[in-house]
Amino acid sequence: MHDQDRGTVSDETTVRLSTAEASALAARVLDEVERAVVGKREALMLVLAALLAKGHVLLEDFPGLGKTLAARSFAQALGLDFARAQFTPDLLPADLTGSFLYDQRRGEFEFRRGPLFAGLLLADEINRTPPKTQSALLEAMQEGQVTVEGETFALPRPFHVLATANPIEYEGTYPLPEAQLDRFLLRVSFGYPSRDEEYTVLTRRMERRREEVTLDAVTDGAGLLAIQDAVEDVRVDESVGRYAVDLVTATRTHQDVLTGASPRGSLGLVLAARAFALLRGRDYVIPEDVKAVARSVLAHRITVKPELWMTQVSGTRVVDAVLAQVATPATVEPGRR
Ligand SMILES: Nc1ncnc2c1ncn2[C@@H]1O[C@H](COP(=O)(O)OP(=O)(O)OP(=O)(O)O)[C@@H](O)[C@H]1O
Ligand SMILES: [Mg+2]
Repeated sequence: MHDQDRGTVSDETTVRLSTAEASALAARVLDEVERAVVGKREALMLVLAALLAKGHVLLEDFPGLGKTLAARSFAQALGLDFARAQFTPDLLPADLTGSFLYDQRRGEFEFRRGPLFAGLLLADEINRTPPKTQSALLEAMQEGQVTVEGETFALPRPFHVLATANPIEYEGTYPLPEAQLDRFLLRVSFGYPSRDEEYTVLTRRMERRREEVTLDAVTDGAGLLAIQDAVEDVRVDESVGRYAVDLVTATRTHQDVLTGASPRGSLGLVLAARAFALLRGRDYVIPEDVKAVARSVLAHRITVKPELWMTQVSGTRVVDAVLAQVATPATVEPGRR
């Protein structure tokens, strides 16, 4: 589709990075983000891995745990335009996509771009908005474009969504259907900081004498595209690929499961594992990379049987169970070229 090609970084300007260079650049992004976000290294690595794997992330956690801070920090460090949309109950699709407005002076309608036209969009509390607006977001995530009144507009590349949702379903929320959760490559929770980390948050705030931390851009959109390209060079041994498939198929046959993860789950698992391997400075995936991302890739793609909804059984528990049950292949280091 030519609409999608427009506004992208053209081939001439595309930066090529070796996996080693891409890995070093990604590590600098992570270090920069950690100037703002205290602790949470594992969660930050997962979020970054999702971005490097061209994915979108669902941040599911309680208020005040640093989700907005992390999203803004990644946008700054990656040199991406940042936009934030609060998903209130009255948010309309056009509030996200933008709409045609009449330009008095020129006597014609002009498209005014909405917050979707950003490099990194923080979609805050997506479960507070009705399904129609949720779909507009998910369509844009899937297609990389929006259609308004029959006209199609390509979103910038890269375009990533970090969406937040509260894990407790309050009255008046619209939980995302499973089919839509599937669009998020990873679901990540930050969790509470340790007491030392929380104390560090306080002391850093006092030392800087103001609310905001401003981070330097370590790279830009073209740099991120180049790292994403380098992820495609990360190799996956057959034993590791088959291990990923075994894990995903095991989620389908687990006794507590109504529906397990789809092939989109196995594709996501391998892609996220490749990005994670790159972050860990390797150009090949080992089973440990698959394990490291498995919960975040698979748990939200699993529906447990309805009779278990009031119990402790959850997608995460099922993933833990299959990780314990499926035999881990030996780590194979591919021959150097
Ligand atoms: N790990 C952390 N490191 C540094 N600052 C933190 C951390 N966790 C929370 N904070 C600080 O706590 C405050 C709340 O964080 P933030 O606004 O990012 O939370 P949130 O998860 O987006 O909350 P909400 O769900 O209400 O939007 C901010 O001032 C943020 O800087
Ligand atoms: Mg927030």
